[in-house]
Amino acid sequence: MIDRTKIIRALNTTVLQPEVYVESEIDSTNLYAKRLLQDGLETDAVVIAERQISGSGRSNRTWHSPLGGLYMSIVLQNRKGSLISPLYSFVLAISAADVLERMTSLVIDLKWPNDLHISGKKIGGILSELVTDDPERPAIILGIGINLNEDISGFPDELQNVATSILTETGKTVEYELVVSEIINSIDTWLIRDPDLELVINEYRSKCTSIGKHVSVHLGQTSFTGTVLDVVEQGSLLVRDTSGREVLISAGEVFHLEGG
Ligand code: BTN
Repeated sequence: MIDRTKIIRALNTTVLQPEVYVESEIDSTNLYAKRLLQDGLETDAVVIAERQISGSGRSNRTWHSPLGGLYMSIVLQNRKGSLISPLYSFVLAISAADVLERMTSLVIDLKWPNDLHISGKKIGGILSELVTDDPERPAIILGIGINLNEDISGFPDELQNVATSILTETGKTVEYELVVSEIINSIDTWLIRDPDLELVINEYRSKCTSIGKHVSVHLGQTSFTGTVLDVVEQGSLLVRDTSGREVLISAGEVFHLEGG
């Protein structure tokens, strides 16, 4: 069972003062977070579950959520400025990558927008959702799934070659509660250091392996290939297509066409 007290004891935050909810099995931590907001949650919050029955990923995919993985949603509200910014997801991605790198000897890369990769294999992903039920008080839910202490050999066939986990990579487990509290501490440090999210883009660029890659971009029914030139200030991907046209991508799926 996840030790909530251990998580709370290891928190060392100033800006983030979240309520922490720990569940053994729920549908999805993002859905749980939405229900908290509907029920009038006024603070920031963190929702963690040992497993999810209907974990969701980007583009309406499901997120395989067995015991051993980390499933967490962070609710941010009452923030000045625009909560719509994808830069909040970048803060989470950078924080999670940093924490995992510090706790293991692994190198974690980011694939645009928010996939955590080890040598081209996915170890984590982020689903961020904006909740505007009360337009006066928008909230953002940052949901992250990390393949932590589960062996990939137990994953479905279609994930065997594209996913990995900390246990699979290192042969060792990491302390779940410490990963959770360190990610929250790291987000807090970012929000203190960079409250207007002006610096985060540079840190993101330094970890983002999509830049310079030859990619296939899928936008609904259309797709094209091109080269990633940059990730711009607000988080969109700047791609030059094969005819030389430069296109800004803010949603959609991007596949690296060579290594990683
Ligand atoms: C992706 O497609 O890469 C994003 C995956 C996000 C999964 C996490 S697990 C915790 C949170 N709850 C969900 O249902 N999804 C996110």
